[in-house]
Amino acid sequence: MDKMWSGRFSSSASSLLDEFNASIMYDRKLYQEDIEGSLAHAAMLAKQGILTTEDLIAITDGLNQVKSEIESGEFEWKISDEDLHMGIEKRLTAIIGDAGKKLHTARSRNDQVAVDFRRWVLKRNKEIVEALKLLMNEVLVVADKHTETLIPGMTHLQHAQPTNFGFHLGAYLSMFKRDIERFESSYERNNVSPLGCAALAGTPHNVDRDMTAELLGFSSVSTNCLDTVSDRDFALEILFNISTMMMHISRLSEELVMWSSYEFGFVELSDEYSTGSSIMPQKKNPDVPELLRGKTGRVYGSLMGLLTVMKGLPLAYNKDTQEDKEGVFDSVETALISLEILKEAIKTMEVKAHNMESACSVGHLAATDLADYLVEKCDIPFREAHFITGRAVAKSEELKIDLSDIELKYLQEIDSRINKDVLEFLILRNSMNARTSAGGTSTARTKEQLEQFKNYLKD
Ligand code: ARG
Repeated sequence: MDKMWSGRFSSSASSLLDEFNASIMYDRKLYQEDIEGSLAHAAMLAKQGILTTEDLIAITDGLNQVKSEIESGEFEWKISDEDLHMGIEKRLTAIIGDAGKKLHTARSRNDQVAVDFRRWVLKRNKEIVEALKLLMNEVLVVADKHTETLIPGMTHLQHAQPTNFGFHLGAYLSMFKRDIERFESSYERNNVSPLGCAALAGTPHNVDRDMTAELLGFSSVSTNCLDTVSDRDFALEILFNISTMMMHISRLSEELVMWSSYEFGFVELSDEYSTGSSIMPQKKNPDVPELLRGKTGRVYGSLMGLLTVMKGLPLAYNKDTQEDKEGVFDSVETALISLEILKEAIKTMEVKAHNMESACSVGHLAATDLADYLVEKCDIPFREAHFITGRAVAKSEELKIDLSDIELKYLQEIDSRINKDVLEFLILRNSMNARTSAGGTSTARTKEQLEQFKNYLKD
């Protein structure tokens, strides 16, 4: 009968229940937030005259001792204590005696866990944003070097139009910037203190919720306690934000895997971030991007898991909610290591600019340019220009050459309105640089985009 809630029970909990019910094996990750939350709560209770100054001093010293015991590994985490909140409070009372029993005045584990977990998520949110910025910086370094390196732009994984590699990387920079913005807006929305909501309905004690909110770094106090103790939107948001970020990472990873193949040969990942095969001595495998792709699935699993835990829960706190933590812990850890290793893989990879450029000489990448020429210089309606270009492509196929290499005479056979100046339009680099509309691939526009990302990272 050593449970904190054992008053109304006449026999002890079975050890099977302890094992099933406990979260202490994993929620102990929240020990810093739990102790800081208790310190703030105690300081507020003392200021409000609910605790004496002596009680406050004893509680503060006691909690600091518990913290150092945890950090030195001395602290005994017992499954029979159920969760970290009770484990810590029990140890506190063992150290300081009766004053420890007063700490939980005007508080419940329901608002306590909501505070701890929310603050943990908010802290990790900032770390992920920092890691995303470091990744963006590294992508920018590579992008900067390759604003003139031609690469086939694709749709449907088929050659479409010539672009440059810096522009291609700029697409990922755009995604990562949106990811950062998403994390930041979640931070703002969820930076709200649950402390003082107690079990579900608030408390008759004269608490000062603004004071604890301020001490804990929250920007405001939650509005409705019933909602607050059962709200896990902050956890869902970080899972969604990580999922979206990992989805972006998985797309880049997929390209890195393809680009590392002999068929593409656009990049070579460094030895440091590649692996070998246990049987095929020649192999150099892109395990890093493959795992990044794979881990994306696992993160989605955590998001779907928590959405499902929360579905249909009646108000307010339900024990189901205890299932909120492990998926978030796992996903945050996955996010942080993924960002770091992707950054390193990008920093150390070799970009094979020559192969990117030679890949542009197949697939008739200049076809749209020929159609644009017919519209612009020959005043031919676009649909008709499209048809004429199709015939020029067919002719090139017949000659087994790329459209960018076709001789003027063949084009003029197809349509006599075509002039010598068409050849300028068929040069692939000209084609890339012709796309000067805002957000386009021309080297000048690409540089402008990269500049925007640099300015964004500077602020
Ligand atoms: N370990 C619990 C959790 O993580 C803490 C809250 C328990 N509250 C309760 N009323 N049983 O959700």
